[in-house]
Amino acid sequence: VGLAAAAKAAGKKYFGSATDNPELTDTAYVAGLSNVNDFMQITPGNSMKWDATEPSRGTFTFSGGDAVASLAQKNGQLLRGHNCVWHNQLPNWVTAGNFDNATLQSIVTTHCSTVYVATRINYILYSYSWDVVNEPFNDDGTWRDDVFHTTIGDGYVALALKAARAADPAAKLYINDYNIENTGAKATAMLNLAKSLLAQGAPLDGIGFQCHFIVGSVPTSFQSVLEQFTALGLEVAITELDIRMTLPSTPALLAQQKTDYQNVIAACNNVKGCIGVTIWDYTDKYSWVPSTFSGQGAACPWDENLVKKPAYDGIVAGFFS
Ligand code: G3I
Repeated sequence: VGLAAAAKAAGKKYFGSATDNPELTDTAYVAGLSNVNDFMQITPGNSMKWDATEPSRGTFTFSGGDAVASLAQKNGQLLRGHNCVWHNQLPNWVTAGNFDNATLQSIVTTHCSTVYVATRINYILYSYSWDVVNEPFNDDGTWRDDVFHTTIGDGYVALALKAARAADPAAKLYINDYNIENTGAKATAMLNLAKSLLAQGAPLDGIGFQCHFIVGSVPTSFQSVLEQFTALGLEVAITELDIRMTLPSTPALLAQQKTDYQNVIAACNNVKGCIGVTIWDYTDKYSWVPSTFSGQGAACPWDENLVKKPAYDGIVAGFFS
């Protein structure tokens, strides 16, 4: 049973993977990614971000994002758009522009509506959902002090959601973040934001839980946090799952990683409103982890040679738990 087949059997909409444009020249990798038995959804890891799509004001480049959208279309896979408004991977003209509130609001509106579509018909047809706002909070639950919050205030989130809804009425609109998978200040901040947006009538459909975890210490209150959000009528999704370890990997670490993957998937499986799972690339060959966390890696369910690890069976077991 493949990962997507298991997810489907469990009543989920998809199991999927992030990918990135440089990897699409690797034919063995693309063959694995295109196996719809494992992956019924893909997310562009970088090519729909602001620096890639609007490198200078009003000039939009869609070639990278289009390549990922075309692959999804060819394979019959869903697309998760990622992302519209984020503090990171912003071009300098946004961060250093010193725009006043009204101007930055107009920039955000234009960016979100255009990235969503304009003439990008394939995004409209294949986007299941979009991470409209990514990582709005610090780990202590305070607002991140980025250019959007500093200039526009809390209202930038509703503004971005409304622009996205106007551009693509069919896509599910998400806020996506990490370290909200356990109860605590950051999860509470996200819950309060979600409540406030819903009370205002802002077009929010879902919350994405990134789930960048560490072997042996996956969150224990994940399922109850998911339930707090679905109780508001929102859907939830695991959007960037990986579970890293200190290298080198050993049979014991790989066995623990299998258990960890199974437990994370089981938490989603137990919550009806948890609609899908995306891993942040499927192979260690292209994982973001080693370049960010020195000495750590082996976070994905396939190894660097595209061979399945025990984690693969852990994921399947999670969907049958
Ligand atoms: O595009 C340049 C290239 O021109 C240059 O030669 C090269 C040299 O380092 O860098 C390239 O940019 C890199 C970019 O990925 C594209 O490959 C950046 O250095 C690198 O920092 C960037 O990393 C990405 C990271 O987001 C940036 O924050 C990862 O690939 C991407 O997987 C990661 O994804 C994020 C999610 O969007 C949000 N959640 C966390 C997740 C992991 O950090």
